[in-house]
Amino acid sequence: MSKESKAQEFQERIDNGETIEPKDWMPERYQKQLIRMMSQHAHSEVVGMLPEGNWITRAPSLRRKMILLSKVQDEAGHGLYLYSATETLGASRQEVLDDLLNGRAKYSSIFNYPTLSWADVAVIGWLVDGAAIINQTMLARSSYGPYSRAMVRICKEESFHKKQGYEMVAQMADGTPEQQEMIQDAVDRWWWPTLMMFGPHDEDSPNSAELIKWGVKSKTNDELRQSFVDRHVQEAHAVGLEIPDPDLEYNEETEHWEFGEIDWDEFWNVVRGNGPMNKERMKTRREAHENGKWVRKAAEEYARKQRLQKEKAS
Ligand code: 3HC
Repeated sequence: MSKESKAQEFQERIDNGETIEPKDWMPERYQKQLIRMMSQHAHSEVVGMLPEGNWITRAPSLRRKMILLSKVQDEAGHGLYLYSATETLGASRQEVLDDLLNGRAKYSSIFNYPTLSWADVAVIGWLVDGAAIINQTMLARSSYGPYSRAMVRICKEESFHKKQGYEMVAQMADGTPEQQEMIQDAVDRWWWPTLMMFGPHDEDSPNSAELIKWGVKSKTNDELRQSFVDRHVQEAHAVGLEIPDPDLEYNEETEHWEFGEIDWDEFWNVVRGNGPMNKERMKTRREAHENGKWVRKAAEEYARKQRLQKEKAS
């Protein structure tokens, strides 16, 4: 069968809503796009552990410490699912990790902002994980089987992350004047960077059209961003918090919250590695990888011995 007819058959499968599995024929470009998106998603989960991990030793109570510990551990697990799902496309774990450590690969811009107070942990759980849920519930219907199945499991844990964050936000918004000031300050600092998580405007998004054609994404960056704003403006107002956007206005006709323009210079500056915490995050990631060398060596040696024993036994 010619490549053209295989590509046509592939597109028909996508259009019929079929799931593509690792052993199925797929256009090289589809495979490349998925390796790019899934490996960068995995990098985001692992680097995403750092901002909140910074507060584990300073949690205000044992209960908060335990919840934050389990959330950060969840993010590590999300990274593992996604690295494993990426390997089903033939990309080795070492290759994709090297891409991150050598600065060739991206991770979500949101994790390049500092966590200045405990209120940031609350707002990250509420807004950042809230944004992740909106994006990842869409990706749970992705055409690539291993990605969509990883998303189903991850989304269950993300909703716990968001709930615990919003619980803290509501408590602080109803707390002492100092707590109210802290939580509003955190919302002011995290609101716009969270809108940037969804990527550039559709007209400036070189990947979206192809990803939608192949059923990897089913919504555009702007559609997802709008769903996020509509949901989280209401949640902010429900606990008496203000959104730092003077252009925010509810449109009765469209039933959407209209909002101001994102600072795209800031976005691209952060994506290009010049955000407030990019250098610090990459330094910490590289050190952790270096310090973990002995663990990987021990695990590889153990696996080698296991293989030898199995070969001897067979
Ligand atoms: N941060 C860093 N880079 C970004 C970005 C962001 N917020 N938004 C877009 N980019 C990059 C893209 O990666 C692309 O660069 P590349 O071609 O070199 O990879 C370029 O900007 C153009 O963007 P596009 O819109 O064309 O790219 P996509 O169609 O891939 O959209 C995306 C970008 C929305 C991040 C999409 O890739 C996606 O949905 N990825 C899967 C979800 C994901 O990675 N989420 C990151 C957060 S993880 C998280 O939230 C963890 C949770 O536990 C808190």
